[in-house]
Amino acid sequence: MSQNAPSISPNADSGYALGRTEQEYERLREQARRFEEATQLILRRAGIPDGAHCLDVGSGSGEGMRLLRRFVGPFATVTGMDVDGGLGRASLRKLRDEESGRFEFHELDIEKADRIPGGPYGVVFTRLVLLHLRDASAAVRKMYEAVAPGGLLIVQDFDLRTWETFPAFEDSDLPRDVLMATLRASGKEPLIGPKLPEIFRAAGVPEPDECWRTGGMAFRRDGGIEVGLELLRSTLPAALHLGVVTEERAQRFFSSMEQRMRTDDLLYQVSPTMVGAWVRKAR
Ligand SMILES: C[S@@+](CC[C@H](N)C(=O)[O-])C[C@H]1O[C@@H](n2cnc3c(N)ncnc32)[C@H](O)[C@@H]1O
Repeated sequence: MSQNAPSISPNADSGYALGRTEQEYERLREQARRFEEATQLILRRAGIPDGAHCLDVGSGSGEGMRLLRRFVGPFATVTGMDVDGGLGRASLRKLRDEESGRFEFHELDIEKADRIPGGPYGVVFTRLVLLHLRDASAAVRKMYEAVAPGGLLIVQDFDLRTWETFPAFEDSDLPRDVLMATLRASGKEPLIGPKLPEIFRAAGVPEPDECWRTGGMAFRRDGGIEVGLELLRSTLPAALHLGVVTEERAQRFFSSMEQRMRTDDLLYQVSPTMVGAWVRKAR
């Protein structure tokens, strides 16, 4: 099972729980496709106006930027920012090849930057990033400062607690448990989604105008289970480094899961719920 064999990655030291490999970037794109509906819902509810300049903080594969572009039309600029400059620049090239519209990218570590450059923006959006930060409320404060008067701050992040495999077997929820424990052990908050209103308050941002929880189910037949397995593969180097799981336990899980994937047609998961919160800044 060489594809499951983890190698200690430099991310175990930088504090990022996930990998920085092509395989992980493909997983991010697949995950983005699976959560597209959830993101469209919150973007629609927030009422993004045509022509608003947008910023996507922690833009990753650029799929959030692609969605924002659909809302604001071809004449507004959609800017991505990410600490992973290689991924961000590759995603920018892809977006410019595949979509009409104005796209930009800047390499930025939201935790290290005093402020977000290039603002104010009509929309500041971030998805599945706060989960990876040591100080989520400090980042939210900077994001809100970058919102123009009358503009929108829109945040989405997971409630990982809902992520569960059925029919259950011994350690069947290991991917969830390992991700949550790895985040906790590296000083992050794994319950970030449900805590968004509290995080807004700690950041000095007004209470969200609305919050929505959305999520689907993933079946063996639609490849959804594989996305979760990839997430565990991506987390494993950091998890082993931090001692939250042993190699033996992880390999036992992969073997059990592989066996069930072969023998149980109805293997499925309740996906992590996506929690979205948005607030409009006063004029
Ligand atoms: C799970 S991915 C989500 C990517 C994208 N927002 C999406 O929803 O598909 C987390 C992203 O946050 C970025 N990130 C992590 N820490 C960051 C930081 N301190 N500053 C900026 N970006 C960061 C990672 O490089 C990665 O691209």
